[in-house]
Amino acid sequence: MGESKLERVGILTSGGDAPGMNAAIRAAAALLISHGVEPWGIKFGYKGLLEERMEKLEPARFADIIREGGTILGSARCPEFQTVEGRDIARANLKKHGITGLIVIGGNGSLTGAQKLSDPGEAGDDFPIQVVGLPASIDNDIGLTGLAIGVDTAMNTIVEACDKISDTASAFDRTFIVEVMGRDSGYLAMTSSIASASDGVLFPEANQTRDEVIDSIIQIVERVLSKKERTRRALIIKAEGTKLDVDELKARVDSELAARMGEESHRVETRVTVLGHVVRGGRPSAFDRLLASRLAHVAVETLVRGESRKMIAWHMPMELDASIGYRSGDDPYCWVVDIDAVLAETHHMHDGSSPLVQWRNEVFKKIEDVLVI
Ligand code: ADP
Ligand code: F6P
Repeated sequence: MGESKLERVGILTSGGDAPGMNAAIRAAAALLISHGVEPWGIKFGYKGLLEERMEKLEPARFADIIREGGTILGSARCPEFQTVEGRDIARANLKKHGITGLIVIGGNGSLTGAQKLSDPGEAGDDFPIQVVGLPASIDNDIGLTGLAIGVDTAMNTIVEACDKISDTASAFDRTFIVEVMGRDSGYLAMTSSIASASDGVLFPEANQTRDEVIDSIIQIVERVLSKKERTRRALIIKAEGTKLDVDELKARVDSELAARMGEESHRVETRVTVLGHVVRGGRPSAFDRLLASRLAHVAVETLVRGESRKMIAWHMPMELDASIGYRSGDDPYCWVVDIDAVLAETHHMHDGSSPLVQWRNEVFKKIEDVLVI
């Protein structure tokens, strides 16, 4: 694609919201205006695109949103967009409103939608719309980016909650299993377990069977009980993607402990806390505001240069083949990468074949025992 003649660029947020999405909207809209381009807000993600729910974003609408969690544009899951017919309607609506650029802020599903929307095979050569994605998902399961928007805030929320739970757990010498979001990714559970000095972490990438999961918990509880410290609380962080839901987990742990400890099992009380959507809400951290703003800056510059089918990545955790992306000249912490390459790596992260996921697993195996002091 050559030098673009952008006049209007649509911005949408899609899939699970993430703290910092508003900072991305704000920065993108302000930077577009500085380039003489009109920012258009598309409400409720791809659903709004299909329903023509879009309007020009005036500065008064986005000036003061950096502090807010969620997304002022709204988000949605839109099954219709997964069909070619649905995407044809979306393309027609963009054309109708004179929108020739689109910034998609969302997770791997939303980025897949962006990839398909702009697929030349499907859209045809005369599809004039440039599409650039920004990674935003608390799950941190998007390929080729060190972090996605929202992860830092979610991690802080979990650590704050675990600190509080630790206080009450210590008062009773109780065992707490704290479940955190992350869909199929254990990233939030793993990083939060380090930052909150938990006694154990359960995450899907470890590929434990149900029996092994129970066994891990029992070992952790026994290890904690054998300590000589004043308090003997056990804090176990469980990623939601780990096999076994929390009720079943608690029931099996309680009965296994009763079987192993007999009379002594009354010393162990297990409680479960599911943090759920609390992890996804709240004011974005300073880092998420900055990350979102910097990624949005590079997204706008990329669109203005006339590029399409890219995602802007943060501080690549791996070596990158020059054929799939380049370090941004506008911000050395950001990379401009092909959306196809992002989604291919995302797939490898999900099926466990990504070197990055394998490295995380290895690190955890090594540090698990060392971390528990
Ligand atoms: P996230 O973006 O947080 O991963 P989802 O997986 O729910 O969230 O995806 C958000 C939306 O992106 C979906 O509701 C759908 O409209 C679109 N999407 C997801 N997967 C695809 C796909 N394979 N093809 C086209 N659109 C998709
Ligand atoms: O992808 C973000 C996420 O919050 C996941 O961590 C979680 O599994 C899922 O979305 C929850 O989706 P919903 O808000 O539709 O319940």
